[in-house]
Amino acid sequence: MPDSVASFTLVDVPGGLPLFGHLGEFKKRPLETMSRWWRRHGDALRFQLGPKTLHLFSHPDLADEILVQQADRFVKVYDPRKPTGLSLVLGNGLVTSSGEVWKRHRRIIQPIFHRSRMAAMANRMAQVGEQRIAGWADREGQQIDIAAEMMQLALEVISQTMFTTSMAQHIEHISRALRVSLKYAFDSFHNPLHLPSWVPTPRNREFRSVMQFMDGLIYGLLVERRRTEATYGDLLDLLLQARDEETGAGLTDQELRDEALTIFAAGHETTANALAWTWYLLATHSEAKARFHEEIDRVLQGRMPGADDLQHLPYTRAIFDESLRLYPPAPAVQRKAATSTIVGGLPLPGGALVLVGTHNLHRHPAFWPNSEQFLPERWLNSERPAARYAYLPFGAGPRACVGIHFASLEGPLLLALIGRRYDLQLAQETVEPELMVTLRPKGGIRMMLQPRHVPVLCSASSHLQPS
Ligand code: HEM
Repeated sequence: MPDSVASFTLVDVPGGLPLFGHLGEFKKRPLETMSRWWRRHGDALRFQLGPKTLHLFSHPDLADEILVQQADRFVKVYDPRKPTGLSLVLGNGLVTSSGEVWKRHRRIIQPIFHRSRMAAMANRMAQVGEQRIAGWADREGQQIDIAAEMMQLALEVISQTMFTTSMAQHIEHISRALRVSLKYAFDSFHNPLHLPSWVPTPRNREFRSVMQFMDGLIYGLLVERRRTEATYGDLLDLLLQARDEETGAGLTDQELRDEALTIFAAGHETTANALAWTWYLLATHSEAKARFHEEIDRVLQGRMPGADDLQHLPYTRAIFDESLRLYPPAPAVQRKAATSTIVGGLPLPGGALVLVGTHNLHRHPAFWPNSEQFLPERWLNSERPAARYAYLPFGAGPRACVGIHFASLEGPLLLALIGRRYDLQLAQETVEPELMVTLRPKGGIRMMLQPRHVPVLCSASSHLQPS
């Protein structure tokens, strides 16, 4: 067993009720509750959700041990034989699988996200962005729900870059299907009273119907790709061509479906929420917004942004990094101890459920000066966190986000693309965070779409080739 870096005291969260434990409080407002408990009771906590005991760890050393040092002991919580939570939707795809299946699939999928592919991806992302915001022209001076718009934009980006297909005509339907199914998955995981999906309740029927729609869409993509035999060098090609090194067998249709749906879901929802929160932060920090507009106007001179521009847009990137700090789309990372072990001096039994509290870590005053303030400048100078694992928007260790380079490109690129044309102004009093698999703005964010009066050119950066 590895030596622990530091010793912690495990505190039992007070106030649990017989049988239910802390379920009522947690279920109502999970994010706020985890944050309040952490502030009151410390970095290593234990609480009860009905029959389940969970640990909430909110210190960089504990995150390091769980996600990196003891990554082989802390496994995903999903069991393919008894699907619960996210695996009800994503099956046994990259996010939810474990062991050999995960290793093999990660090997297949990883190359599509290699840095060398990112310039071509950036070009495609910018084109999709331009098309999508062209549709905003007749809504200028009006209110839009920026969270819904970012969801649709990110979904179209993922469809066009990973599957070389446009989902534009289905976007409303897919957004709804993912929203309904992911909420269902989230509730099923945290609610021990949740009825199994075969029971014919209205909610179960709705869940089954949106899953049928998503399956139809994905299997349709597979059939079409096989029929035309065209190759695009995209993710779908890689998945279809993958062969087992020993047996030579390809992925089954079920495996293909699970991976495709996983990339759809994991690849747009997170980025879309990050962008929505970023627009919110800019709209509520006028100096930062002015500096952002000044930087993109100066660097782009009205051009469409490309991958090479990002190195000249440090403030735009800092804004995105800072937004991921304050509103991490994955505010907690969940694991299960496969065997008994010791973490931070604390003994944990085999089967112990653990949450690494990313949202708490990102606001930990011991590691972040002015931790509650939106300060993009902190990413421009030496104020970065002293502890490596105090900033984990993309997780850490072997299960860290496979799409990190993709998202780190897409976020600032779309910010620059939209910011060069529009000034987004908040059109509602307050915005409340809601945890539903990812951290969303509850009910969306209404913003006034103000055109900016700067010259805008339609061509991309001259050093980029069309993909
Ligand atoms: C701002 C955007 C994003 C954020 C904040 C984010 C965050 C994360 C986090 C925290 C994890 C690790 C979860 C864990 O350890 O349990 C993860 C995993 C993953 N992400 Fe992302 N992600 C983003 C964008 C993307 C994109 C664009 C894609 C794909 C196109 C993607 C695909 C995945 C996949 C497939 C995994 C599972 C990896 C594995 O277990 O091997 N993500 N993401």
